[in-house]
Amino acid sequence: MTKLNIGIILGSTRQGRVSTQVGEWVKEIANEHGNAKYEIVDIAEYKLPFLGEGTGQEPGIVGWNEKLASFDGFVFIVQEYNHSLTGALKNALDSAREPWNNKAAGIVSYGSTGGARAAEHLRGILGELMIADVRVHPTLSLFTDFENYSTFKPAEMHMDNVKAMLDQVVAWSGALKTLR
Ligand SMILES: Cc1cc2nc3c(=O)[nH]c(=O)nc-3n(C[C@H](O)[C@H](O)[C@H](O)COP(=O)(O)O)c2cc1C
Repeated sequence: MTKLNIGIILGSTRQGRVSTQVGEWVKEIANEHGNAKYEIVDIAEYKLPFLGEGTGQEPGIVGWNEKLASFDGFVFIVQEYNHSLTGALKNALDSAREPWNNKAAGIVSYGSTGGARAAEHLRGILGELMIADVRVHPTLSLFTDFENYSTFKPAEMHMDNVKAMLDQVVAWSGALKTLR
């Protein structure tokens, strides 16, 4: 059977962001776990305009929609900004519709309280986009899983949680294929 394609979406775009380290770590675990094909998706590369500012036909928007359409499911790397998700991720979510629908997603979040508030906000948005978000949710602490809030040194215990989350994403992404 062909493997499902899962996009690992980096939710932050700022210079000096740590999301690249977290995304690479998730991808490494996912590749070893080997139950799907995984690819990192960097919102920053698409240079998305704010929704409504352009024609909607900019290459970035078209490319973003095409890239999302190529996936069966997603893992969102979510960081907490002012108790919510980043503006960049919200805009990226708003910048597509059908390519999100009837797919599954997992969340890996980080922040002072594990990014829990941002992740819960994201869950509400995912419902509207008809993305089924799975239960297992690895939460990383800025205080104990990073050195100086900048060098990612995750505690060992998170690995099993990431694998369990991936198993749920793959199971639901496969099941929802019947609707796509
Ligand atoms: C504008 C801004 C607001 C933030 N607000 C919060 C917050 O409300 N709660 C929290 O836990 N961390 C907060 N942080 C800290 C971020 O979670 C932390 O800097 C993290 O590394 C950001 O992810 P990034 O490096 O991928 O951009 C904030 C950071 C920024 C830049």
